[in-house]
Amino acid sequence: MLKANKPLIKLNNAAQWWNLKLEKEKILEMVIKEAHDIEFNLVEMRRHFHMHPETMYEEENTASYIENELKKIGFSPVRIAGTGITAILKGTKDGKTIGLRADMDALNITEKNDKLYISQIPGKMHACGHDAHMACLLGAARILWKYKEFLNGNIKFIFQPAEEGGAGAYKMINEGVLDDVDEIFGLHVWIPLESGEIGIRSGPVMASSDIFEIKIKGKGGHAAFPHLCIDPSAIVPEIYNALQKIISREIDPLETAVLSIPVFKGSNAHNIIPSRFTLKGTLRTLNSTVRDYIIKRMHEIVKGYAEAWRCKAELQFIEPSYPTVINDEDLTEKISEILAPLGPITSIPPSMGGEDFAFYQQKVSGVFLFLGIKNSEKGIIHPHHHPEFDIDESVLWKGVAIYSLLGFNKSFIT
Ligand code: NI
Repeated sequence: MLKANKPLIKLNNAAQWWNLKLEKEKILEMVIKEAHDIEFNLVEMRRHFHMHPETMYEEENTASYIENELKKIGFSPVRIAGTGITAILKGTKDGKTIGLRADMDALNITEKNDKLYISQIPGKMHACGHDAHMACLLGAARILWKYKEFLNGNIKFIFQPAEEGGAGAYKMINEGVLDDVDEIFGLHVWIPLESGEIGIRSGPVMASSDIFEIKIKGKGGHAAFPHLCIDPSAIVPEIYNALQKIISREIDPLETAVLSIPVFKGSNAHNIIPSRFTLKGTLRTLNSTVRDYIIKRMHEIVKGYAEAWRCKAELQFIEPSYPTVINDEDLTEKISEILAPLGPITSIPPSMGGEDFAFYQQKVSGVFLFLGIKNSEKGIIHPHHHPEFDIDESVLWKGVAIYSLLGFNKSFIT
């Protein structure tokens, strides 16, 4: 719960102090101070979300909590895409509308931490840090509301459901979330980075993510009489190896692509040849031309092997697939400058992880950036999506400061 903290300075005094002219240093000083002032509340909110995780499109309690917090500040939150929420902050001067996005969903993982704030929902866990994103964006909403008279343009706070596979961003866009947004920013807490480091990269930063399924149909029967069957499992090793050869033999070694096929489903018994065999996997790339080529070759290979061995096969991709997260070059440069005083800023390598933030960037310019949360001394070292994943809460204030400065950015950079 947010407490009604005393403003750092009264607005009328602040206006005199700044002589109604915003200065970068003053904004920075104010944002850092305000973010530190609400650290206790940030931890409280993050732990509330952490203890009550909800997965894709079921974020009802999470959404209600966010709505309440926004209303307490003074916003009129609006529901979108089921459990998604937006809230608009109108500045007093004209300018662009900046979208600030936090994702809301948890994962189907059983938490194995021994912290007091461990998940209270069996089998579900905030193991990616989306609990922290929501807390930080609520913190920023509070700070930016307080200083709205200094904003040029508007800020749209976007709380998005179903990032983990449900393409919540895509659904929100279809329901008009970007209709009044000019630029968008997203933040992800990031375990590969040391606590407090800010990771930024221009261009492709997270991979496109396609989920696919290969269904091979043959003719089942007794395993002792394979000649009376058409065994679909017999061609699985060939298809598997051939698909890997697309990456190793047909893609430029300087390009990046990953094809993983971790799901094999065939017979349940040693003596039964199945009539169907299913493979499931994921394709990750940073370049759409490479992606298109691999998909074309996957279809040819699956069809070719199936026909050669009297089977029928179909390769299907689950839609919509997540595009590559591509950070706008100019905007990345601009925000690197804005955020530099909060640093250290690190130029990070691209990740083959996927992110549906990419859908927003297909419509408007945007940047997706990272905040380090790794702290070996506190034992916070486990990767995202791990049952022992945790975040270093001492950096929550910085997440708030990042969102706040991004919200302010047009006020002092243009
Ligand atoms: Ni995530």
